[in-house]
Amino acid sequence: MFPENKSPLDKRRIDGNLRLLRLNLSDSLDFCSNDYLGFARSAELAGAIEKQVGFQKSLVNGATGSRLLSGNSLLAEELEEAVANFHKAECGLIFNSGYDANLGLFSCIASRSDTILYDELSHASIIDGVRLSTAHAFKFRHNDLEHLEALMKKASGTIYVGVESVYSMSGDFSPLSQILGLCEKYHALLIVDEAHATGVFGEKGKGRVVELGLEKKVFARVHTFGKALGVHGAIILGSEELRTFLINFSRPFIYSTALPPHSLIAVQCAYHFLNAQEGRINMLRERIVFFKEKAGLLKSLLFEESFSAIQCVIIKGNVKVKALAGSIQSRGYDVRPILSPTVASGSECIRICLHTFNTFEQIQGLLNEIESFCL
Ligand SMILES: Cc1ncc(COP(=O)(O)O)c(C=O)c1O
Repeated sequence: MFPENKSPLDKRRIDGNLRLLRLNLSDSLDFCSNDYLGFARSAELAGAIEKQVGFQKSLVNGATGSRLLSGNSLLAEELEEAVANFHKAECGLIFNSGYDANLGLFSCIASRSDTILYDELSHASIIDGVRLSTAHAFKFRHNDLEHLEALMKKASGTIYVGVESVYSMSGDFSPLSQILGLCEKYHALLIVDEAHATGVFGEKGKGRVVELGLEKKVFARVHTFGKALGVHGAIILGSEELRTFLINFSRPFIYSTALPPHSLIAVQCAYHFLNAQEGRINMLRERIVFFKEKAGLLKSLLFEESFSAIQCVIIKGNVKVKALAGSIQSRGYDVRPILSPTVASGSECIRICLHTFNTFEQIQGLLNEIESFCL
């Protein structure tokens, strides 16, 4: 298929960044999953889901079609209303995943005379959605307001701005209030991906947009259910008009079988659990504060500036970062190296995710391992 040693796979092999699937090490300490609040491993939540599924005697096994055909249900519509209310939004539309939601939103929202501006560290699902769009599209330097404004000045048509409230790779915040200020100045519409803020920031985990009181000003929000909520799927929040627009033009929504009822019930239960488990959010915050305090003492190491559950220590070079990850893993800590080209060359890092179930001793132990490898 490809000339010898010239396939993209060979290049990855030579560069040392071939992706391989591996099973999770069940006996190692989880410092890499998105299960920030421990919901995915909660027997209590699992029990609540099982019980709720058991109650629904007429439950079908699958949705049987897309929402526009046979796959719609009262369950889906009531869940959308409840989740939208929780996050203080007018309306919501459920997608099969956060990837689908971003792809479906960014690909259809702008027309060919419009412009999409998005942060250079945006998740692949945003980038892929932008690629599918017919609009003009430009990325701005990460969190760089001056660069964003310079692009806004030159933009044509309606301007859409795409950001993540908490960046998935670096864990840092987007300066949402300032970005919104620019959006107001240039009549741009702001889209915020709240994947890593859902369940973690804002009252009861309503997200950064609600935490900052910006819910009436943001055009659209994407909340995912597969991270802190521990289940699966996603919702796009916005106006009733936006919901209708997506139902009509968002291809991942229109042309894919809807989530099965069991999944919808799992999301419903996860939100009930979130409402009742504010203590978990505080536990997570305590761990973030502890990590930052202890990491701050390690002057020889470079950590990304982050106040979220995602903390990165920069170890330049794929070879070195892989060696460090291997060494830490062999000591029983499950962390993953983030290699270039996933991040820019020179920004390779160990991405550490903190969870409610990581003890302070375990966090300190992980930092000790990193420090002793790097000395
Ligand atoms: C910022 C961000 N948006 C969207 C997604 C996709 O969400 P999902 O895993 O539900 O497809 C991710 C997943 O990692 C993410 O980090």
